[in-house]
Amino acid sequence: MDRKRGSFSGKMGFVLAAAGSAVGLGNLWRFPYLAAKYGGGIFLLVYLILAVTLGFTLMITEIAIGRKTGLSAIGAFKALDKRFGFVGYLACIVPFIITPYYCVIGGWVVKYLITFVTGNVSAAAGDDYFTGFITEAAQPVIWFAVFVVLTALVVIAGVEKGVEKASRILMPVLVLLTIGIAAFCITRPGAGAGVRYYLLPEFSNFSATTVLAAMGQLFYSMSLAMGIMITYGSYMKKENPLEKSVRQIEIFDTAIAFFAGLMIIPSVFVFSGGNEEALSKGPSLMFITLPKVFDNMKLGGIIGTVFFVLVLFAALTSAISLMETNVSILRDKLGWERKKSTIVVTVYVLIIGAIVSLGFGPLSFITIIGLGLLDFFDFISNSILMPIVAILTCVSIGFFIKPKAICDEVELNGPFKVKKFYTIMLKWIAPVCLILILLFAVSEALGLIKV
Ligand code: PFF
Repeated sequence: MDRKRGSFSGKMGFVLAAAGSAVGLGNLWRFPYLAAKYGGGIFLLVYLILAVTLGFTLMITEIAIGRKTGLSAIGAFKALDKRFGFVGYLACIVPFIITPYYCVIGGWVVKYLITFVTGNVSAAAGDDYFTGFITEAAQPVIWFAVFVVLTALVVIAGVEKGVEKASRILMPVLVLLTIGIAAFCITRPGAGAGVRYYLLPEFSNFSATTVLAAMGQLFYSMSLAMGIMITYGSYMKKENPLEKSVRQIEIFDTAIAFFAGLMIIPSVFVFSGGNEEALSKGPSLMFITLPKVFDNMKLGGIIGTVFFVLVLFAALTSAISLMETNVSILRDKLGWERKKSTIVVTVYVLIIGAIVSLGFGPLSFITIIGLGLLDFFDFISNSILMPIVAILTCVSIGFFIKPKAICDEVELNGPFKVKKFYTIMLKWIAPVCLILILLFAVSEALGLIKV
């Protein structure tokens, strides 16, 4: 491997950094509200099955592509087959779209953390607190900038000293906090009904949308189809076990999502007197409903503070992976130094992110296909580009480059235990599922179906 690119120091460093990318706002905020909305236990069951089948297939493919070529997405696809260089370009657009708005939400988390630390819990629980905050001009932009600078400082320090070191410290803390808060929440009086709703699959709640929503969430949560796992794979050493590492990343990601559900669903159940409506509030669940829950809870100030520390860590490690991917694309493509690339990316993120942030206030008159700026960027990246990139990845590797390229890379570290299963998943099952996700997302956006 080219030394200039840097690499993770060892197996654990790689797993923690990749898990750091995967575990983020998607796990702590999006997963619980989707689980609540789409049937509780049944969603959880479907998600788990998809994680070990679809998620595994896509993740091992991306990491193997990165490690095999030692390049980020653009170069990697081109190196494997010139005709598919464009897939790399498409994949690279995604993190450039996501990073700015992800950091805007990161800024909101910083603001909430500060509010909780300074003891203003009841203010945060007020009805108009969130809307009042995001519709302002200056404040959200300032907190967003703080979040971006924190992220950039880690990225500028490099792969081993920055990205890996941050993950080594933040990830174990994150696991402890998640388990700790979940344990506290499920032992509150009245939490049992919420725990049951979340854990026991109710088959009458099953529908096609349960599967599609779970699939969409899976890709987002595991940072797939955005070139991120390819970039991280390119930093992975040849002697580290690929198949096993992928399993560990998946377990990490899924376990955190699981515990996030366990802390949020029962708490909201207690707070709302068992009303499932309160759970399906979507984006506002974390910033409007949860502060109310904490305000009503004994020790809520402390638990809330710890909760937002947790969310901040998770958001930071994911933002680091996003920015690192952008930086690595510029370095590979233009031959720039890490420092120069990081500064350019930071300036780009600051400008676009500030516009997105203002999209809730002074620029709220701007809407595209009926969506505000943040929702529009989210829709284009997650609902359109991501499935397209994933479909092209499966088809190009499955039928042109051939699965053997991936299997050989995996087998550098011993036998690939599920090779047959992997090949069938990659060539046939994954593309069909992905096409369905794409159709689902487009139909939903066009208002053809209502979910
Ligand atoms: N996987 C992260 C999460 O679950 O929050 C979010 C994310 C990180 C999405 C990096 C996309 C990405 F490129």
